[in-house]
Amino acid sequence: MAATFAIKLDDFGSGPQAVEINGVEVGLFQVEEEIFALENSCPHAGLPLHEGVQDAYEVTCAAHGWCFDLRTGFRPEFSDGFPIPCFYTEVRGDEVWVDLDRRTNLPVRP
Ligand code: FES
Repeated sequence: MAATFAIKLDDFGSGPQAVEINGVEVGLFQVEEEIFALENSCPHAGLPLHEGVQDAYEVTCAAHGWCFDLRTGFRPEFSDGFPIPCFYTEVRGDEVWVDLDRRTNLPVRP
């Protein structure tokens, strides 16, 4: 699958967003010029991460406070385990495209 249109850049005006791409709910986060796309389900109890509180490269889940690094999908305080899948994003003009076939993180912290 190639990249799929996800959202307009202007839509980030109200903070993190969520879109469904081919049956996968994806959370989208903006840090200045960078866009991060993660599977939008907290591994603790499944709440949508885009409803959490974003602080630069981290998002804190609104339910019980687990924190995740948007660049790696890992909880910063743990050195192993399985990260939240992160996906390749690309900005084309004023649009954000996401490729679900291109994971940008590894299942284990390098
Ligand atoms: S559901 Fe995210 S911390 Fe509990």
